[in-house]
Amino acid sequence: MLDSGSPWVVAHRGDSRFCPENTMSAFRSAMEKGAEMIECDIHLSRDRIPVVIHDSSLDRTTNGSGNIVERDFKELSQLDCGSWFSDQFSGETLPKLEQLLEEVSGKILLNLEIKSKAVESEERTDGVESQVCEMVHAFGLEEQVLVSSFHHPCLNRVRKHKYSLPVAPLLERPASFAELKKLNQTYDSFSIHTDEKHVDQQLLREMQESGIPLLCYTVNDPVRMKELSDWGLTGIISDDPGLLKKTIS
Ligand code: G3P
Ligand code: MG
Repeated sequence: MLDSGSPWVVAHRGDSRFCPENTMSAFRSAMEKGAEMIECDIHLSRDRIPVVIHDSSLDRTTNGSGNIVERDFKELSQLDCGSWFSDQFSGETLPKLEQLLEEVSGKILLNLEIKSKAVESEERTDGVESQVCEMVHAFGLEEQVLVSSFHHPCLNRVRKHKYSLPVAPLLERPASFAELKKLNQTYDSFSIHTDEKHVDQQLLREMQESGIPLLCYTVNDPVRMKELSDWGLTGIISDDPGLLKKTIS
């Protein structure tokens, strides 16, 4: 996907320390600061449009309220997603995945995180996994997108889709190397993404020896950025991609 000497700089929800998370301003800023990959979160609107937002509720990061899945995109598109962060960003809108793909097409790698609450029954053929695969295919971005999720079974549906994409299981609890290796095999994953709190040099060495890329979230402390970089981590997910870039270059 990307062969660089140092860890990939992955912008968590965009340049989210300086811009409202998961907005086009945050994504543009991350690109300007030299991030190699943007991480963002995906939900589905009521009319089954993939949208970029972290919470399943609108309350924290918009001027609306209630659940995303109960609103059509037309309603969502009228919300202000910037004022909660600062007046400077008032009028920022909630991006569709389509808008993000259009804007970043060919410029940066994307890590699309399918939120667990967006995943529906396995029987549905028009679930979030399918919407994401179809849309990425429509833009011809299969080589530039990595799909992750804490909901591991949904990654199987992404792998088995006719427009399959590389996947990465996410983990928030400590896990042994054996468990991570098993996850990698079960989901035929490109990489594993885990909370940086649970990563030590021994685990990283074992992953490297097995050839399984490991990415960590969310690293905002420069001392830890440097340490993980020196250990040879594949990618570091940070709210501050500019600081990360400077620290590890
Ligand atoms: O993908 C890494 C990280 O974003 C997972 O946690 O809650 O920030 O989506 P969260
Ligand atoms: Mg995320």
